[in-house]
Amino acid sequence: MCGIVGYVGKQQAYPILIKGLHRLEYRGYDSAGLALINANDELNVYKTKGKVVNLEHFVEGKDSTGCIGIAHTRWATHGEPSQINAHPHYSKTKNIALIHNGIIENYADLKKKLQAKGIEFVSDTDTEVLVHLIEYIYQRDKSNMVTAVQVALNQVIGAYAIAIIDRNNPETLIVARKSSPLVIGIGDGEFFLASDASPIVEYTKQMIFLDNDEIAVINLKSGVKVKKLNNVEVTPEIKEVMLDVGQLEKGGYPHFMLKEIFEQPECLINCMKGRVNVDLNDVKLAAIIDNKQTLLNANRIVILACGTSWHSGLIGKYLIETFCKIPVDVEYASEFRYRNSVISPNDVVIAISQSGETADTLAAIELAREKGAFVYGICNAVGSSIPRVTHTGSYIHVGPEIGVASTKAFTGQVTVLTMFALALAKAKNIIEHDKFLEMIKELSLIPDKIREVLKHNDKIADLAKIFTYARNFIYLGRGYCFPVALEGALKLKEISYIHAEGYPAAEMKHGPIALIDEEMPVVFIATQNSLYEKVVSNMQEVKARKGRIIAIVNKGDHKLQELADYCIEVPATVDSLEPLITSIPMQLLAYHIAVCKGKNVDQPRNLAKSVTVE
Ligand code: F6R
Repeated sequence: MCGIVGYVGKQQAYPILIKGLHRLEYRGYDSAGLALINANDELNVYKTKGKVVNLEHFVEGKDSTGCIGIAHTRWATHGEPSQINAHPHYSKTKNIALIHNGIIENYADLKKKLQAKGIEFVSDTDTEVLVHLIEYIYQRDKSNMVTAVQVALNQVIGAYAIAIIDRNNPETLIVARKSSPLVIGIGDGEFFLASDASPIVEYTKQMIFLDNDEIAVINLKSGVKVKKLNNVEVTPEIKEVMLDVGQLEKGGYPHFMLKEIFEQPECLINCMKGRVNVDLNDVKLAAIIDNKQTLLNANRIVILACGTSWHSGLIGKYLIETFCKIPVDVEYASEFRYRNSVISPNDVVIAISQSGETADTLAAIELAREKGAFVYGICNAVGSSIPRVTHTGSYIHVGPEIGVASTKAFTGQVTVLTMFALALAKAKNIIEHDKFLEMIKELSLIPDKIREVLKHNDKIADLAKIFTYARNFIYLGRGYCFPVALEGALKLKEISYIHAEGYPAAEMKHGPIALIDEEMPVVFIATQNSLYEKVVSNMQEVKARKGRIIAIVNKGDHKLQELADYCIEVPATVDSLEPLITSIPMQLLAYHIAVCKGKNVDQPRNLAKSVTVE
């Protein structure tokens, strides 16, 4: 949940670290800090509460020189966001500084033991235990720092990506990881370090993605040496990462979220490129071709995910059950991992994650693999952890998503799930030829239809102004649009802090209808699909109780124009593809309400893009 950056080379480290922190701010932004070793081998640590920009102000006028440094942007787990709890943390002698992303589960026990040895703690963090433990072992064993780190980490239970600098060794970064990501960039006589590739990509494309239980020593002269915590040497694989810096910038939009909403037509074209072929009437996913028999033999599919990815998983269930006739269960990864889940070797698990780093999803995958299931990953972040622990999978190829609220990753996931369902149904030979052709044609038209919806941006911005008063919202949909209602409500609550609930429209009368009065905005997804008349009846029920209805309707639906207070028109498509179109006005409505309320849409409070803690 935190962001880590590091540098050792010939350049001044400070500007590289600050730029890197800005790129990683999506991972956490309640405090930030950095450590630099200057030319006199002095180790300076600076940290502040709040965003990276606060850190920049704080460092102004202070010594920010040095060609080696580490930096951190925090999302608090242990200890409130404060200057004291911000990273880096000093060791007792102040010779070592350490940054950490993750959670040390046995920190209380370790802390007690260190306190008994006379070590004083200044912060409330679990992280501070690490830096004291490492120095304590280093002094006790009179060993070298790398061995001390190894011995210390072998005593630690939990998740970590750490980076350490030592003023007695001012050309070396020591880093290690378990369950939290860490990438090393290899430049020309210089080395970079980060939680993901985004802070590194403008300097070098050559990267090492550190694996679990690995420790790397990055030395200016001797380069990168990697070994396992049990001391076995490893030859690291250097990968070339093709990421465009332009994709990381806002490109003229006021927020990343709006940019990412507007990118969706292009993103989905990329996602389908080489997979959906309208001329040949075909859908191909390499992972299905390579694992056809395993997938055809699946008794059941279990989809594991969290948050927005869980919502796309629910749409996946509807798609796969409709087209492939395979039973599908959709589970929150966090629940799956801690209940007595029944999984057998004939089950196929689909793990969905934008970041590829979600701790609960990773743990659920591990459990499913232990029980013999075949695991298929659907991820966005290339080189992240989930694609490395799954048997196979498909990337969604929508480019880096920086806004904390997921938008283009959601539609990308739904697109991959649609292709998955169609390709598997074809492999099973159970989809009618005409239906298959219709689906391919409609799927290929989706990007243009999304463009049409995006034209309503100004209208939705006006509508948002009317609803900034609201303290609650209800979102209702049926069939394929029920998960869209859930996703619409989640988008609104996470960025505007308005309480919102999504329900299957027919469920309303079993309880939530009691909430409806003239103050309550109710968003209906009421497109003309097979459940249209039923949704209209549900709308009548809300109207009768004076609820304020915002309806997502198909173009030219005059009946609903009269019934609803406000309508947003979207183009028609087949039922199963409606989520790709109807989710767009949900995203825009949430975005504009949050902007009207003056909220930080890209970095909403308490949230982080990559949830690497459970
Ligand atoms: C909401 C959102 C989160 C994530 C969830 C899972 O906008 O982004 O709900 O969907 O934290 O994250 P990933 O997909 O990275 O596993």
